[in-house]
Amino acid sequence: MNQEKQVWAKKSTFIFAAAGSAIGLGNIWKFPYMVGENGGGAFVLVYLLCVLIIGLPLMMSESIVGKYSHGNAIDAIRATSKDSNASKFWMTIPIIGFVCMFLLLSFYSVIAGWALDYTYGFATGKFNGISAKDVGGIFDGLLASPTKMIIWHTVFTAATAFIIGKGATDGIEKALSVMMPLLVILLVAITLYSAFATDYFAAGVKFLFEPDFSKITLSVVINALGQAFFSLSLGMCAIMTYAAYMRDDVSITESSVWVVILDTAMALLAGLAIFPIVFANGLEASGGPGLLFVTLSTAFAKMSAGTILGFGFFFLVTLAAISSSISMVEPVVKWISEKFNTSRKSATYLYCFVVWVFGLLTVFSFSNGDTFIIFGKTPFDIIDYFTANILLPLGGLLLALYIGWVLNKEISKKQLFTLNGFIFSVWYFIVKFIAPVLILIILVSMVLGEEKVNQIISSIFG
Ligand code: PHE
Repeated sequence: MNQEKQVWAKKSTFIFAAAGSAIGLGNIWKFPYMVGENGGGAFVLVYLLCVLIIGLPLMMSESIVGKYSHGNAIDAIRATSKDSNASKFWMTIPIIGFVCMFLLLSFYSVIAGWALDYTYGFATGKFNGISAKDVGGIFDGLLASPTKMIIWHTVFTAATAFIIGKGATDGIEKALSVMMPLLVILLVAITLYSAFATDYFAAGVKFLFEPDFSKITLSVVINALGQAFFSLSLGMCAIMTYAAYMRDDVSITESSVWVVILDTAMALLAGLAIFPIVFANGLEASGGPGLLFVTLSTAFAKMSAGTILGFGFFFLVTLAAISSSISMVEPVVKWISEKFNTSRKSATYLYCFVVWVFGLLTVFSFSNGDTFIIFGKTPFDIIDYFTANILLPLGGLLLALYIGWVLNKEISKKQLFTLNGFIFSVWYFIVKFIAPVLILIILVSMVLGEEKVNQIISSIFG
């Protein structure tokens, strides 16, 4: 990075950085189990619509604010508000973003810790030729051990803090430009295994891509929207912060389209790799957060080169998670160090420590789930639901309203210089009307509850 101008030297760096942020546990771990728990193809269909109609336009919106101001998220909203004579109310956008990032990171590092544990497990030959039942036993054993989870949670948080503290994100980006393609190759290889060695590939494809429309319920829609925000790293100023380093001549539209395509392709690929293995081994598609770990390890345990493949796979998943976690820390550290004039290092270590402590709630949600129940849910369930399904859509709603109704239109026009007049108008219309109305309907429906919404729908459509 060119430190003086604070912009990335290469045109493609934004795509790499933003894709690094977007592609992570959300695609490989969360997407498949959300699909499994939310009715398969019905969820995938709604998810794809959310990505296209809300995700892509909002990714462009976040990028506009970041690139225009070249500052941290708080300053970016402040600068654009000032130039548009807007009120201070809009500062809620980065505030929601920062709260959300804090909460997300607290559980993200625990789950990434599981991937580390599996990397270690494969490296030490623990999965060599064991039965599907034993693979499940290993996962249960991990969840039953808070000590183990805390150790890996600590290792992952420390690694993230170390990279950010050193300002070594350039280094990680270089490493990722090699590792990410490797992860894709491995996922393709697993998908090929699913296709040729399981007899259940067709069932997997059908499960993912043949929507049963009767399964599209309110909670499916809410979960799909939340997952779209989570997976694309939207609604919390991560993309905005990376866009602040964008060179002026880089096209926001083209970059955003690439990031969305890569992110979506990775999620679908993970689904294609996992579901045939689920069906072939009689596992539960609705297996929840353990799905990725149990299914793929079952397949790896059966393969002759499974140990090395399993090791490589979970190592790469950990790296994908690191490139996402650094994008959750960077916005806050950038702000703290710019605002309070502290060193990057102390800002990073202090912040990461606080997140680490909060992460213990997630550890105990899994290890002592029965004792930590509030309103019938574990703290992890609550944090996950509150961030993905409430805070992120709310942040997205405010952002859409901000760009569509408050920000000086000329700023957007100038930033989206590659769009012709018609396409710009379509984008603007979506951001101004369609995206906020859709998000609002979903949020209001969530407040009303499934039953009320069904009543309203049937009274409208007879
Ligand atoms: N998008 C990341 C993933 O899919 C998670 C993330 C969310 C990263 C928010 C940064 C900000 O795993």
